[in-house]
Amino acid sequence: MELLKHKIMQEGIVLDGGVLKVDTFLNHQVDAELMLAIGKAFAELFRESGVTKIMTIESSGIAPAVLTALQLGVPMVFGRKRKSLTLRDDLYTEKVYSFTKQEESEVTISRKFLAPKDRVLIIDDFLAHGEAALGMARIVRQAGAEVAGIGIVIEKSFQTGRGKLLEQGFRVESLARIASLEGGKVEFV
Ligand code: G4P
Ligand code: NA
Ligand code: NA
Repeated sequence: MELLKHKIMQEGIVLDGGVLKVDTFLNHQVDAELMLAIGKAFAELFRESGVTKIMTIESSGIAPAVLTALQLGVPMVFGRKRKSLTLRDDLYTEKVYSFTKQEESEVTISRKFLAPKDRVLIIDDFLAHGEAALGMARIVRQAGAEVAGIGIVIEKSFQTGRGKLLEQGFRVESLARIASLEGGKVEFV
């Protein structure tokens, strides 16, 4: 997606450890026009996939997810992150480990928002090691529902996430794929 790549080149800041800071339009301040364009791009890619629900994890996945939901005319539900939680039988819960933040969190979604008949499109802002997307896919499976696909705004293709998701048979569509952040320079696939 050219508009997104342009925005990354203009405003992205490369930090140590292969991290791209994009807080001017995605992770802190949000560019609503760009989110709308992102929603339209995902809707076009997954229009024929029978999607009944969009799922993401708070907080940065919410903006692209809700605009995709708007374009596809389906609800969006986001997983909530908690440090730890006593088991509750009205919630689906999965542990998600973050390599970037080196911490484990529990992601929960109320059982009332996922049903076996659902075909779920998973949306996230970043794909690094794939742990967030895999955690969401496990919640979809817990509900007896199906993953219709995975849509990623910015994929770091030099990390392991994409491979892990493809290995499990998921369709992965990323709007920007970064091949390298070496030397502080963004290179696309
Ligand atoms: P994974 O899900 O693909 O395994 O990624 P990982 O655990 O490593 O990512 C943990 C958090 O860091 C996620 O945000 C993810 O979006 C974010 N992240 C990973 N790599 C980058 C990067 O290069 N740049 C930026 N800006 N973020 C990155 P989170 O903890 O869910 O936070 P939130 O922003 O959604 O609240
Ligand atoms: Na994030
Ligand atoms: Na995220």
